Amino acid sequence: MLNTILEKVDSSNPSLNIVALKKAANILKNDGLVAFPTETVYGLGANALREEAVKKIYIAKGRPSDNPLIVHIADKNHIYPLVDSVPKTALILMDKFWPGALTIILKKSSIIPKTTSGGLDTVAIRMPSNKIALALIKECGFPIAAPSANTSTKPSPTLASHVLKDLNGKIDMIIDGGSCDFGIESTVVEVNNNNVTILRPGSITKEMLESVVENVAIDKALLNNNSNILAKSPGMKYKHYAPLGDVFIVDGDINNIVKYIINCLSNDKINNINSVVIASDETINNYSSFNALNIGSRENLDLIAKNLFNILRECDKLNIDKIYIESFLEQGVGLAVMNRLKKAAGYKIIKV
Ligand code: TXA
Ligand code: MG
Repeated sequence: MLNTILEKVDSSNPSLNIVALKKAANILKNDGLVAFPTETVYGLGANALREEAVKKIYIAKGRPSDNPLIVHIADKNHIYPLVDSVPKTALILMDKFWPGALTIILKKSSIIPKTTSGGLDTVAIRMPSNKIALALIKECGFPIAAPSANTSTKPSPTLASHVLKDLNGKIDMIIDGGSCDFGIESTVVEVNNNNVTILRPGSITKEMLESVVENVAIDKALLNNNSNILAKSPGMKYKHYAPLGDVFIVDGDINNIVKYIINCLSNDKINNINSVVIASDETINNYSSFNALNIGSRENLDLIAKNLFNILRECDKLNIDKIYIESFLEQGVGLAVMNRLKKAAGYKIIKV
């Protein structure tokens, strides 16, 4: 058991707690593990160039070793030593979206250990915009490999308390920088010549990518409602984001959805099953005689994305056995929200 240090740092002005940042950098320089906030979710960091350090990430998370990590840099130019070459399309994306929630996959150079890339000959790179993340990477002077700082299969952490719940005693330090702005992980794209393929949808949407590059495709595995189609991104094939209870997505006309869920909740009550509905501002009043959690307005998908993982973790705190959630439109950020939800539900979608 490690003694996990928890330190608060102000995300709008990290230099106010330079002592904590230096402590974190020192741990990373000695091949230790530090969880830190990014604008998407909390990351679990280690020196990306050190096999010994990166191995510890897989152990702490219980992560399969063929699931590659994202390498975080604090300066666009720091991508060059890490990759074979930077195609023009990647440069355009970096200029438009970095720092920010876009991860770009390119052929790796030899300084990236195979452990970091999960055995692949490519590497995923991102320059985050969170000031704590940037300050920490700069203080280290090397790129930081960081998957989401949750136990494998659990919802990604959007608060330091989520990280503590999953990884207390397994990592050296957690930097608490408050809640993450976006609440879902970065958009992951593969760049081949001029073609961009979205492997994992995120808050940088297909439409936003199309504003700067012509050919943006969505990986086939994302368009199908089953888990059997082989995903290009190794992480997308694993069980993910799952709370302890069974999740059911209910899809269709909103009035039918509400009727169907009320019926389920009533039956569960009779059968002593501890169930809950994750509802929206627009529908929450219909469920006043049941357990209901409000995820926000259906009109504000960014807010729904921000609340999603926290609400799934709330269900665990309440010891919920069955979770019903109203589906959302798969447009814009809705594509990312529904992608995470389908995985949390193990693709159990009820059409009404
Ligand atoms: O927002 C984020 O991306 C957060 C923060 C901490 O930066 N990180 C994150 O990492 O979500 P992780 O490890 O939980 O998810 C990384 C995803 C996985 O699905 C992984 O399989 C995929 O990116 N990935 C990483 N390297 C890849 C590669 N070389 N080829 C294909 N997919 C890759
Ligand atoms: Mg993850």
